[in-house]
Amino acid sequence: MIIGIIGAMELEVDTLKEKMEQTEIIKIANMEFHRGTLNGVPVVVVRSGVGKVNAAMCTQILADRFGVTNIINTGVAGSLNADLDIGDILVSVDAIHHDVDATVFGYKPGEVPQLGMREFVADERMADLAVASCERVNPDIHVRKGRVVSGDQFISSNEVKERLIAEFRGDCTEMEGAAIAHAATLNNIPFVIIRAISDKADNSAQMDYPEFERAAAIHSANLVLDYVTRL
Ligand code: ADE
Repeated sequence: MIIGIIGAMELEVDTLKEKMEQTEIIKIANMEFHRGTLNGVPVVVVRSGVGKVNAAMCTQILADRFGVTNIINTGVAGSLNADLDIGDILVSVDAIHHDVDATVFGYKPGEVPQLGMREFVADERMADLAVASCERVNPDIHVRKGRVVSGDQFISSNEVKERLIAEFRGDCTEMEGAAIAHAATLNNIPFVIIRAISDKADNSAQMDYPEFERAAAIHSANLVLDYVTRL
């Protein structure tokens, strides 16, 4: 087993790097892949950069060059569900591209033409274990499973938020998850997305986001440290 960990936040990745043993750094496509062990488990930790192209490239490199057997994506997200407040954690059931639109040809919103897939389904065991790890290391934090909807946009408007809820029944939105899920699925690699809620993807999202990032990065690093030993 080699676990690929795609972390979005610098502080989170730095914390994991500090805890890693026997690290070697391999630079590919403007990304630094940190290969080593975490609590004795073989891992590759990397920041993909923002957006779906970076995320998909990163996932493919983890598959081709590092032979990862599982992928975890952590980071923050905007909430689309009234049950998910700032500070809560969402673990993916599945992920959809909210900015793919070939509806004019009869495809569903978010459906990638000719792929025969709209929802990229996360590994259920990995998701259950992520929820359990979260409850163990962050007992005060509300965690729930749900749907991630991703696009190359920071969502900060009530109108767009309402559309994402109506069209996709998304629980949270961010900018990488569906691309990682898509690439992992095509490579037959089980994956899970774990996202801390940093804002509500509405008109106040821009203000809430920076304030929350630090706490999210710390919670996320703690969760991953526990999680890798349970997979
Ligand atoms: N990541 C965190 N919050 C987000 C938002 N509102 N939209 C897109 N990505 C995000």
